[in-house]
Order: sequence, then structure tokens, then C-alpha cells
Amino acid sequence: MDYNDSHNVQCDQVVKFLRTTAAHDLLSGGPCRLLELGCGTGPFGRRLLEEYPLLHVTGVEVLPEPMEALRQILARDGLEKRYEPVVADIGRAEIFDADRFDFILAPSVLHHIPQLIRSDVPRNICRWTRTGGQMMIYDPNGANPVQQASNQVMRVATQCFTSLHKHKWPGETMYSPAYYRRVFLNNGFEYVHGFTHDPFMPVRGTGVPLLGARNLMINAVALVTWGEWRGAGQSSLYRKI
Ligand SMILES: C[S@@+](CC[C@H](N)C(=O)[O-])C[C@H]1O[C@@H](n2cnc3c(N)ncnc32)[C@H](O)[C@@H]1O
Repeated sequence: MDYNDSHNVQCDQVVKFLRTTAAHDLLSGGPCRLLELGCGTGPFGRRLLEEYPLLHVTGVEVLPEPMEALRQILARDGLEKRYEPVVADIGRAEIFDADRFDFILAPSVLHHIPQLIRSDVPRNICRWTRTGGQMMIYDPNGANPVQQASNQVMRVATQCFTSLHKHKWPGETMYSPAYYRRVFLNNGFEYVHGFTHDPFMPVRGTGVPLLGARNLMINAVALVTWGEWRGAGQSSLYRKI
């Protein structure tokens, strides 16, 4: 899968989720300011600009390299007026004013924050969202036993072999949907809707042999698990109260 492609399967999943929830009314009902956290090259935000013509996106990313690539993509696609890239750490509250955004999208980023519940990130997300605004999490499902076990193995492996950092960051932590509910219900949000998904993951063509084997195990375990344990990914929507 090309992670930079705004029409990849992950972007399709997010768009589909948003269309079936209260988020769709917010995003399509008038001018809307969206913040894309840990945006990388901004595939989700760029896709949502296509879906929602009155949207303006701000993307925040701690690494300068993907942001340079994003700037080039925005110039190529004529999106510079609708997408503002900001290089910053989402652990710092002062990077945005309070109540600045109607919608915050956290795509595949919160699992990069160790000890999320003790970090400043949930408080910052609450601070930057206006009252009545919404927040969506799209992340791996840490309740899935294979996802959890493979992350622990990879955590040790990445500490021993730095060459693995191109596939995984050492500090990654797979959080469960219940963990996210605990974090955000204690930080100014109410839970609107959510589910786990992707019971069947690609086994061939992943580009990393071990990833194919892990996905095979996730698929096998999906046949015998249920509820929030099942599925490699999770999507959920929250509203700021
Ligand atoms: C798995 S990548 C996902 C990138 C993009 N959202 C996507 O799905 O294609 C996680 C991104 O979050 C960024 N990130 C991690 N910690 C961050 C922080 N504290 N502040 C801002 N960005 C962060 C990483 O640099 C990385 O680009």
C-alpha cells in the first residue's frame, strides 16, 4: 500500500466511517476547520479536501522531511490555500490557539505517543477543539491479541536493531478502544460512535515477510475472537462537551 496516496484503502475507510456518522454533517454543513495530527504527507487531509469543498485543513507533523514532500504535493495539486502544513510537536499546547478547530483527525498517530494518558496530548486536543466540535481516532487495535503480542516483539527487536526503525518506531504502543475511551472521557469529550475493523489483513505483497506472517496470524485469530478483540484497526468518533 502507498501510504502517501490519498486514495489508499486507509483513506477510503476513514471517508466511509465519516459518511456514516454525525461527523459528515459537521464537515459538509459549512466552512469547517480541520486539524490533521501527525499528518506525514497529509493523505487523509488531502482526501477530505476532495470530499468536502468548504473544508480547510491544517496538518501538524514533527518531522520536517514528510512536510517538505507534502508542500510539493500541495503545490502540484493547487491546494496551498486549503491546506496549511505546520512542523511542530503535538505535545506542545501553545502551537495552536484554544478552540481553533471544528474537527480533529488523529490518523495512525496516537500509538506513537508513549503513556498517552499521562501525556499532554489529550489535553491539547481538547484545548484546540471548540465546544461541540468532534475528534476522530483511526489507529491499530491494541485489544487484538496478535497486534499486541507482535508489537511487544517488535518493541524489543527495534531496540536491538536500529535498521528496523524504517518499519516501526521503538516507542509505539498499541492502545485498545477501551483505553482511548478512558483517556478522552477524562479529557473533555463524550463518546459518539466506534468500531474495530479489518478482520482480514493482506498476507502477500506487504513488502515485509514478517508482516505477512503477522497478518496471517491476525486473520486466524479473527476467526475465534469477538467484540473489540477482533479486527486489526479501530475507528472512533468523540464530541467535545
Ligand atoms: C504512522 S505515521 C502516520 C502518518 C500519516 N498520518 C499517515 O497515516 O500516513 C505517524 C506520524 O506521526 C508523527 N508523529 C509522531 N509523534 C508526533 C508528535 N509528537 N507530534 C507530531 N507528529 C508526530 C510521525 O512523525 C509520523 O509521521
